[in-house]
Amino acid sequence: MTTQETQSPATLAFPTGFVWGAATSAYQIEGAVADGGRGRSIWDTFAAIPGRVVNGEHGKIAVDHYHRYPEDVKLMAEMGLNAYRFSVSWPRIQPDGRGAVNQQGLDFYSRLVDELLGAGIDPWVTLYHWDLPQALEDAGGWPVRDTAYRFADYAAEVHAALADRVRHFSTINEPWCAAFLGYASGEHAPGRREPAQAIRAAHHLNLAHGLSVRAMREQNLGTEIGGCVNLYTVAPATGSEADLDAARRIDGLQNRFFLDALLTGSYPADVLQDLSAVTDLDFIQDGDLEIIGAPLDVVMVNYYSPFTVSGTPGGAASAAAAPTDSGSPWVGSEHVSFVTSGLPVTAMGWEIDASCLTELLMRVTRTYPAVDLVVSENGAAFDDVLTDDGSVHDSGRVAYIDAHLRACHTAIEAGAPLKGYFAWSLMDNFEWAWGYGKRFGLVYVDRESLRRIPKDSALWYAETIRSGGLPG
Ligand code: NOJ
Repeated sequence: MTTQETQSPATLAFPTGFVWGAATSAYQIEGAVADGGRGRSIWDTFAAIPGRVVNGEHGKIAVDHYHRYPEDVKLMAEMGLNAYRFSVSWPRIQPDGRGAVNQQGLDFYSRLVDELLGAGIDPWVTLYHWDLPQALEDAGGWPVRDTAYRFADYAAEVHAALADRVRHFSTINEPWCAAFLGYASGEHAPGRREPAQAIRAAHHLNLAHGLSVRAMREQNLGTEIGGCVNLYTVAPATGSEADLDAARRIDGLQNRFFLDALLTGSYPADVLQDLSAVTDLDFIQDGDLEIIGAPLDVVMVNYYSPFTVSGTPGGAASAAAAPTDSGSPWVGSEHVSFVTSGLPVTAMGWEIDASCLTELLMRVTRTYPAVDLVVSENGAAFDDVLTDDGSVHDSGRVAYIDAHLRACHTAIEAGAPLKGYFAWSLMDNFEWAWGYGKRFGLVYVDRESLRRIPKDSALWYAETIRSGGLPG
């Protein structure tokens, strides 16, 4: 890869040791769903149901990272990444979600880790990015408490096997999505529309986080352990009482329910009250929150877009609207509508406001006990075109990442302990219910040949990393 013209030394310099990364997840990139003894996941099942994923697309081949990982690591090295965040597929490790470990599954990640380390890239392992073993869903899935214990066992196995070379582990990617898109709106696997069960799922995902942190700490292997949340700023459309209450509710379920649990070992009282109108909360057992609130080394923040909400009926149904028919993920707050505020949007229809990233990082810094922060996902889908000269001129993505990195820099200057940034995503991949049509990659992937072509954003990111920051 060639980089753009050398810039003058960065005037917006990031701290020495800043983590410059890119992120992916197993089901979105690996393919090879029947290789190496892998079991079936809920996404294999869900994607096979007509109408659930745009154009009936699926992850059977995805971008074939399972076979092409050496080439992908080479691309990362050429970009100058010093870190790569990827997820381990639970059904590769335990095909049925419990019991004996499938050595071939572990071996794949072990080879990937060695390849990364050989290229000077620090592996950041996410233990769960939504591909629950189907056998565990058949036993009830996340609404069932036992799933949390099964996750802790699985996490302990992966940690024990990789901690000699991997320093950074995180538990569950975006538990809000796994619970409410999976079990309330049905936009994501397993596609259930059972609001009361979604609340149980949310608690058990938190419990799974806490139990796995405990299991990994008990191994005493000196790793750094994080939890990952997807945060949004939530603004009321007006100052009316209805809109203010709508903002409180959405902020409560999206942000505080998870942040308070992970960082203070408690659930916000107002959110519990909202949820108790939907179901009895007797599945939250004594001692659970103490487990969930176990101290973390890092909080991993995924940020894409702000929300503006209204409590007055009549607006759009959901900001996270699925491409296919679905229910609402906003359990207990289905009357809330999402309002567009006229900001530019990405190809997902998500509004762009980088200043909200600074706001969120400062909020976590000021509200919660001191803990390191990392932006573990940030990026944008645009309708990229491969031009005749073999390039992809994705100036929209360059502008998006540039603005959000500046927002990170502002937060650092204001005292946020932000240690790194991972662009979503390393390369174009399977964007869940949207299939392959939504391209988030720094690297373009041709759908026919699966050839990888670094976009202008990859070249720009490489130069940013090389110079340690951005021009002032
Ligand atoms: C968050 C999820 O973690 C990731 O899997 C997804 O592709 C991006 N957001 C973009 O929607």
